[in-house]
Amino acid sequence: CKSEADAKVEHDMLERPKDRILFYGNLCLDNVLEVAAYPKEDTGSRALASRKVLGGNGANSTRVLKQLRGGRCTVSWIGPVPRRGDPDTAFALGVLEADGVDTSLLEEVGGEGLPTSFIVTSRESGSRTIVSTRNGVRELGEAHLEAAVRRMLQEEARLGRPCWCHLECRQAPEVTARMAEAWRSVTGDRALPLSVEVEKPGMDVSGVVALLGTCTHAFFSSEWIKAHEDELLADGSVTEPAEKRQRTEEQRQQLAPRCLSALRGRAPGAAGLWVCAWGDLGAFALDAATGTSYFQPAVKQARVVDSVGAGDTFNAATSTPSRRGLGPSWRWSAAAPSRAARWPRSASARCG
Ligand code: FRU
Repeated sequence: CKSEADAKVEHDMLERPKDRILFYGNLCLDNVLEVAAYPKEDTGSRALASRKVLGGNGANSTRVLKQLRGGRCTVSWIGPVPRRGDPDTAFALGVLEADGVDTSLLEEVGGEGLPTSFIVTSRESGSRTIVSTRNGVRELGEAHLEAAVRRMLQEEARLGRPCWCHLECRQAPEVTARMAEAWRSVTGDRALPLSVEVEKPGMDVSGVVALLGTCTHAFFSSEWIKAHEDELLADGSVTEPAEKRQRTEEQRQQLAPRCLSALRGRAPGAAGLWVCAWGDLGAFALDAATGTSYFQPAVKQARVVDSVGAGDTFNAATSTPSRRGLGPSWRWSAAAPSRAARWPRSASARCG
């Protein structure tokens, strides 16, 4: 029979989070207007609905991660905010914290207000069009991230052992690469999963290639792939500028895997899993170590409920952190869409 004290120790040990994820990505305010169809420029129309909600890749992904991996895993969001006391910031952090996401590592950087997006979602097409402003808020400081990783080590017993770091590429790729290096050197475990999100079309190929050598996983947006396809496929197979090109369905389906393979050709020695969601088609992945391509078809939904943050949700749902990497238990189905089988539904492995 256990003493009360023993039972308490056991209870505390079970309750304490075992692992901790560090997740860097944007947090902002989303003002969403839902319209029947996307409006013409220079016209007036009325929205069907409007809402003010928490947004930003990092905020959206960490909320989903917490829902999926919650339990004994601390999900720590890191990023810049103007001031905790700023009303919009307090609203945004309140939503994140209510969902169980840890916000203690954020950086207060000043500025005019929380970064804000104005978003028009069209019921007709399911598209979302985003215009955003930083409101004078700068990006996360490298030194702040490094200090946060040190703090994670000090807080290990209470909040869990660092098990995975995700970095949205919000600065130049070399800055993200230095942040990745800070995570590796401070944790002292170079095998820990480290993922990056390459979303912004403006990021140059050579910088991204250098970054890929330092991470175990990368999430590419279709916008980035499309913006760089000419450069990536500069082997004579592309003859016309992207905007003029008419693609057959098969060519459209092969663009992502071809570009990921071309990227691999430029990054010898890179050994990560590179993932790219491709809208209603599905998602592609490439194992950079072996060159094997994978594909998972999208499941058609009868109705689009909310397309804002679909990519952020996908990234969080795709990520399965463990000591051996993200998603080690996945048997992705091979190659082209036509020959695809599904990713297993139970693509889950626990932290650690
Ligand atoms: C969606 C989103 C929005 C935000 C915008 C900019 O992916 O995260 O919530 O306004 O992108 O980060």
